[in-house]
Amino acid sequence: MKYKSGKFFIENISAAKIAKKFGTPLYCYSKGFLNKNIDNFKHNFKSIKPLICFSIKANNNLEILKIIKKNNLGADVVSKGELMMSLKAGILPNKIVFSGVGKTSEEISFAIDKNIFLINAESESEIKLIENISKNKKKCTGVGIRFNPNVDALTNSKISTGRNVDKFGVDSKILIKIVNKFKFSKYLDIKCLSVHIGSQITNSKPYTKMVNQVDSLLKKVKYKFDYIDFGGGMGIQYKKYSKKLNYKKYRRSINVFLKKNNVKIIFEPGRSIIGNTGVLLTKVIYIKESKNRRFVILDAAMNDLIRPALYNAYHNIIPIQRNKKIINKIHNFVGPVCETSDQFLTVGSYNKLKENDILAICDVGAYGSVLSSNYNLRTRPSEVIVDRSKIKLVKKRQSILDII
Ligand code: LLP
Repeated sequence: MKYKSGKFFIENISAAKIAKKFGTPLYCYSKGFLNKNIDNFKHNFKSIKPLICFSIKANNNLEILKIIKKNNLGADVVSKGELMMSLKAGILPNKIVFSGVGKTSEEISFAIDKNIFLINAESESEIKLIENISKNKKKCTGVGIRFNPNVDALTNSKISTGRNVDKFGVDSKILIKIVNKFKFSKYLDIKCLSVHIGSQITNSKPYTKMVNQVDSLLKKVKYKFDYIDFGGGMGIQYKKYSKKLNYKKYRRSINVFLKKNNVKIIFEPGRSIIGNTGVLLTKVIYIKESKNRRFVILDAAMNDLIRPALYNAYHNIIPIQRNKKIINKIHNFVGPVCETSDQFLTVGSYNKLKENDILAICDVGAYGSVLSSNYNLRTRPSEVIVDRSKIKLVKKRQSILDII
């Protein structure tokens, strides 16, 4: 995705052409970029040879998942719906892990019937339920147990999951108790210890702490896990010069760990695979001047992309047609929803804009479309994937009549 003579292109097609053909707001992904991110991720952990399970909560578009499957990745799912979608995309059951604190018996039963690789359980009650359901089906189910290492991921508190105040996983004492209680069960094969401390992590230190905590737990538990699932969480650069995760340091701590522990590694990346491969194209409906600021009212709103409203998240907004005129006034990019929290970005100056101009909200591939809603009874946007000079519509805009 880049500018060519002042025009923003997604692969070989100008954003202007795409917006004209499919309308706005529009989620637009680059297939080439997605493939490149997957290659980079594989390359970063080449020496570790992990099983990579794409965390499909970040983006569950069927056509995106088909690209994921083509790259031989597995899936990390958290609901029956996500499991069904992964299977529909052709992702092999033996590469699917099922995470989440509140799986229902129906979901567990469905996962067992589909012979997925692992159910990562998060409590003793869940393990008991998996054992019972497996017993009824006369099956032995592969399970993981999620460890809460009490490590602060140093990210946004709302997406931190590894502190002892967070609802995820169990502490070391309980984990050891669960292992000892269930390790001889005929219906459970405890294959994995899983951990995931949070999302949008850009500091490698929490990862090192997490790996060390797992290492010391393994010494105490005296049980041979075949797999350690280190989860996902690798952050991306939403701002050009913001901190980048040092993959080398993370990899180094895992390599040290692997010298002491003969296990295979699983990762569950979401954002680092898909985050920067998507933009949300949106049209300026109105420009409203006030004394000290200019409200740029877009046709995209918090129902289409909730991250800025929910997490105060930064998403850059760029004009798809650059010009040299800069207006030095506060620009507040907002949506039409009736809430003050419906705003995307505030900047001190911006390219000269006019009504009907198209803009691109950047880095929305992860947790963009999946978190969209029908708030204010607004329809969910269309989605397209660009592959060199081809565009494929991969989700149709909802119609108001369908909703009504
Ligand atoms: N594994 C587990 C168990 C998870 O809970 C998550 C994300 C992942 C893997 C993938 O994490 P990633 O590599 O994408 O960071 N809606 C929030 C992010 C929520 C993340 C939830 N769990 C946002 O928009 O920032």
